Amino acid sequence: MLFKQRHKIINWMFQKIKYIFPILLLGIWLSFPSCKHGPLMEDPDPNPIDTTVNPIDTVPVDTTTVDTTMMGVPCDPNVVYFDLDVLPILQSNCAFSGCHDAASAEDGVVLESYETVMQTADVEAFNLNDSEIYEVLVDNDLDERMPPEPTSALSSEQINIIATWILQGAEDLECDPNTAGCETENVSFSGFVAPLLQSHCAGCHSGGSPSGGVDLTTHSNVAVYADNGKLYGAIAHEPGFESMPQGADQLDECTIDKIKSWIDAGALDN
Ligand code: HEC
Repeated sequence: MLFKQRHKIINWMFQKIKYIFPILLLGIWLSFPSCKHGPLMEDPDPNPIDTTVNPIDTVPVDTTTVDTTMMGVPCDPNVVYFDLDVLPILQSNCAFSGCHDAASAEDGVVLESYETVMQTADVEAFNLNDSEIYEVLVDNDLDERMPPEPTSALSSEQINIIATWILQGAEDLECDPNTAGCETENVSFSGFVAPLLQSHCAGCHSGGSPSGGVDLTTHSNVAVYADNGKLYGAIAHEPGFESMPQGADQLDECTIDKIKSWIDAGALDN
C-alpha cells in the first residue's frame, strides 16, 4: 500500500516535471536580462554632453551669435569665413567655364556658391579625409589632383584655408571685415595687393597662358596694369573694361578703395 502510494507520487512528479522544467528555465532566462540590461535601463544618460560627440565644442567660435546681417560684427582672425576666404579661391581657380561653373559642372561639381559647394563637392564637416574637395587638392596622383595639369596645385596657404574651413565645421559664417572703417592709408603691395590678387585673380591670371594675356603674379606685371588704368577699370567695373574678377562678385568697396589708393600712391613694390 505504502509502496503503491510512493509509486503514484513519483509518477505524478514525472508527469509534472515536463511543466516544471520549462518554468524553471523561463525563470532563469528572465533573471538574465535584468542583470545584463539593468544598468542601461536604470539611467538613460545623466549627462548627454559628456557622452555625445558635440561638434560645436570643436569650433572655436560661438555660432549662435552669427546671423546674416553682419554689419559691424568684427571678423575673428581664427575663423575661416566661406564668402571672404574660401569662395574667392574657388572662384579664381575652379569655378569657371569648362571646369566647375554651373554650366560646365565637371563631374557634377559646381563651386560657385556655398550652396552648390555643399551640394556637389562632397564636403564632410570636421573630416578632411572624407572631404573630396580637400582630397583632390593634395592628391599625389597628378591625374586626380585639382586643379588639373598643367595648372599648378593651389598654394599651401590656400589649401590650409580650405582645410581649416572644413575642420571648423564647413559653415557659412559671415562677418564685417571693415568694422574699424576702411583703412586706405599706406596700402602695401606685399601686405595687401599681392595676397588679394593671389586669392581672387591668380587662378586665371597666372601660368603659361594667363587669361587675356594678363599675368598678375609679379609686381612688375601688376604695375603695368596699374599704370595703364586697366587694373582699376576692371575691378571698379568701369565702362570700357572687362569686369573683374570674371564670373564672381565684385570686390567689396573697401578693397577697391585700398587698391586705388595703392595705385594712386605710385603702385610701389612695398
Ligand atoms: C575666372 C577667370 C578670371 C578671374 C578669376 C579674373 N580674371 Fe581677369 N580676365 C579674365 C579673362 C578671360 C580676361 C580677358 C577678357 C577679355 O578680354 O575678354 C581678363 C582680363 C583682365 C584684365 C584686362 C581687362 C581689360 O579690359 O583689358 C584685367 C586688368 C584683369 N583681368 C584683372 C583681373 C583682376 C584684378 C582679377 C582679380 C580681382 C581678375 N582679373 C580675375 C579672367 C579672369
